[in-house]
Amino acid sequence: MDFKLKNVPSQKGRIAIVTGANNGIGFETTLGMAQYGFKVVMACRNMAKAEKAKADILQKLPNADLDTLQLDLSDLDSVRAFAKNFKDHYSQLDVLINNAGVLIYSGKKNAAGIELQFATNHLGHFLLTNLLLDVMPDYSASRIVALSSLAHKTAKIHFDDLNGEHIDDAEAVYGQSKLANLMFADELNRRLKKSGKNLIASAVHPGGSFSGLFTEMSKGFRYYMFKTLSPLLLNSNTAAAKPALFAALSPDVKGGEYFGPQGFKEFKGKVGFARRSDYSKRKDVAERLWQLSEEMTGQSFL
Ligand SMILES: NC(=O)c1ccc[n+]([C@@H]2O[C@H](COP(=O)([O-])OP(=O)(O)OC[C@H]3O[C@@H](n4cnc5c(N)ncnc54)[C@H](OP(=O)(O)O)[C@@H]3O)[C@@H](O)[C@H]2O)c1
Repeated sequence: MDFKLKNVPSQKGRIAIVTGANNGIGFETTLGMAQYGFKVVMACRNMAKAEKAKADILQKLPNADLDTLQLDLSDLDSVRAFAKNFKDHYSQLDVLINNAGVLIYSGKKNAAGIELQFATNHLGHFLLTNLLLDVMPDYSASRIVALSSLAHKTAKIHFDDLNGEHIDDAEAVYGQSKLANLMFADELNRRLKKSGKNLIASAVHPGGSFSGLFTEMSKGFRYYMFKTLSPLLLNSNTAAAKPALFAALSPDVKGGEYFGPQGFKEFKGKVGFARRSDYSKRKDVAERLWQLSEEMTGQSFL
């Protein structure tokens, strides 16, 4: 596989959604997609931040074609309203980049009592994707891209404790949500294939980048070490957006793959196939997670 995005023709006339487009990796992904000619719908929970990010992108790329649309992934009603709003304004969706995410340490839950990372990172994107599949053209250039993380590697889906109430390590609860993102992409791709569809889903991780994701990390030694070393060890947000851009655009992507940076500990570097845990490959777990997500969102596949 050629991991360089070369000779990508202009994508003018095609529409992409990037969730969490106002900050960090999502901001850079939006800029990248706009550079290739996509109209990008910036799906953000805070419209003031969305408009500011749009203005910042327009400064860098005055002919960028950008819209902003409100979306709070932690609230299933907001996800449904977003999907309706999108369908009212646009006739098709070519690429969906499920980028938004939260890393929290507080055990916070959403209004429905679901742990906030599982609710936002996984369930919100699960519902969003399933609501939008029917407006995605049926060819392999139609893409769904899920943002996973190195944190998936030590995680499991705790079906008997999804809220992580008996999990001591707070970051393992985040890991569970990012594992769910990866297994969702696999299962979605299998289901698309099984139903004879040509559009494809794949997953990526960005390596590491010192983005807004770490805002809630306690400001101790570990945080400042991380911050100080990040320019050396981690990707910039621009480089961290590359795996998602590759999954969205490369004609070599077949679906069901997992891409990420190839450098030291997969923190940074050129895009290639990412390593994944054996647990993340389990089809029985992916299938069970899918069924549970259908029950929790009330939304089934196609
Ligand atoms: N940075 C890393 O090292 C790293 C490593 C592995 C994976 N990732 C993944 O990469 C993705 C992007 O993260 P990032 O590093 O760019 O973090 P970030 O700078 O914090 O950006 C996260 C984006 O998600 C949005 N968001 C959060 N909760 C939301 C909600 N309920 N509804 C809609 N949007 C919401 C944020 O909006 P607000 O600005 O309103 O908060 C922000 O735009 C995430 O999925 C993350 O898990 C990042």
